[in-house]
Amino acid sequence: MTTHRIASLLRAQPLGESVTVNGWVRTRRDAKTFSFLEINDGSCLKNLQVIAEASLPNYEAEIARLATGCAVRVTGELALSPAKGQAVELKAREVTVYGWADPESYPLQKKRHSFEFLRTISHLRPRTNALGAVARVRSVLSQAVHDFFKERGFFYIHTPIITTSDCEGAGEMFTVTSFDLDQPPKSHGKVDFSQDFFGRRTSLTVSGQLEAEIYALALGNVYTFGPTFRAENSNTSRHLAEFWMIEPEMAFCDLAGDIDVAEALLKHLVQRALTECREDLDLFGQFIDQGLIGRLENVLANPFIRLPYSEAIERLKASGHDFEFPVEWGLDLQSEHERYLTETIFAQPVVVTDYPKAIKAFYMRQNDDGRTVAAMDILFPGIGEIVGGSQREERYEVLLARLTESGLPLADYQWYLDLRRFGSAPHAGFGLGFERIVQFVTGMANIREVIPFPRTPGSAGF
Ligand code: 4AD
Ligand code: MG
Repeated sequence: MTTHRIASLLRAQPLGESVTVNGWVRTRRDAKTFSFLEINDGSCLKNLQVIAEASLPNYEAEIARLATGCAVRVTGELALSPAKGQAVELKAREVTVYGWADPESYPLQKKRHSFEFLRTISHLRPRTNALGAVARVRSVLSQAVHDFFKERGFFYIHTPIITTSDCEGAGEMFTVTSFDLDQPPKSHGKVDFSQDFFGRRTSLTVSGQLEAEIYALALGNVYTFGPTFRAENSNTSRHLAEFWMIEPEMAFCDLAGDIDVAEALLKHLVQRALTECREDLDLFGQFIDQGLIGRLENVLANPFIRLPYSEAIERLKASGHDFEFPVEWGLDLQSEHERYLTETIFAQPVVVTDYPKAIKAFYMRQNDDGRTVAAMDILFPGIGEIVGGSQREERYEVLLARLTESGLPLADYQWYLDLRRFGSAPHAGFGLGFERIVQFVTGMANIREVIPFPRTPGSAGF
């Protein structure tokens, strides 16, 4: 049987035609001789109103017992609705119940539930208006990422999840092992990973960048878009232990070109959300964050501010604002500093460039001043850092010195050095935290609401 999705029915409004929809009952209201059913099938935020007459054969036995959450199929005729609130309604000829939901025990009732509560039922929360809307926006944005790169001739590369190198050099990796953890083989008192599945210690990747560099130096422009994992104990509204990252890598590209691509990508994503998800965004604008649509339009309105780190430090010092953490050349910007720059000083996105080399990763290209690197972080109002990237160190000797200085095991990075021995070329890339852009676009205060199954310290279940 052909069924219709509610989104396309509401768009096309095929009045007078016989149609069938499948979905879940949001509410039932009874009048004297009929009931109103609000049906949602997940295709859009809006429900379809169904009129089910008391004369239907299963009215008493089933329809009059329908409650929030029941799954049904309705066949009938689409008609103009006389009532306010919807253009069309479905006059039911047949209502079939697929699955009941006992109102005594079904946790999602008509009232508004807190996001904290909904996190405890992640198997049911996508059935709410807000979480359903987030899931649709997330899907549209993922597709938009691929469209952006396809239009520009980038190739999509699948970089590995299991890896032996620590891209960020921060040691925040989850070990992958097949050992019996109660009795792992040991040698000289230490776990002997040479006997493990891969013959050495392996981890979940923190970034696909290093492998993307390999392909950029073969195919020109590439990107990865996949899950990344960090065992950092950051219990904040901006951090996940498992998050998705978009990482383009471009050969023959410098820092300015890198920022151009990042800015174009961010604007493209915001624009696509505004045009394709307007109904869902208006829900967020109404219930979650009144300033949302204005903030999204503000991102599109102007070129991002580009500001060297040294100047950012000057601006923060000159502000006279009392920060919790010190503002001093050489220290990393804390989230409060990032937010102050983008929210208070500039009130728009800011790209901070040329950070001190001591606080950035080993692969960033050293500037001629010897103390800064060609790095960039993009800061967004309400979010803080949304993108981190850099031009890469393409000079063999300089990279070797940097690796040695950082105390990284050279043997593990031989292949990375090889890329600088054979046909090395200037190249650059960045990482966009996918959940952070979904957070920005939806106005959700907590990152746990924008990924279907959040993994955070102490929490990896349902
Ligand atoms: O700044 P990060 O650590 O950069 C890298 O991993 C580079 N290898 C990227 C590259 O140049 N290819 O992370 C990039 C972005 C951050 O700006 C942030 O948006 C996001 O990833 N991110 C996180 N998002 C959620 N939870 C976390 N724990 C995150 N850590 C980073
Ligand atoms: Mg960063």
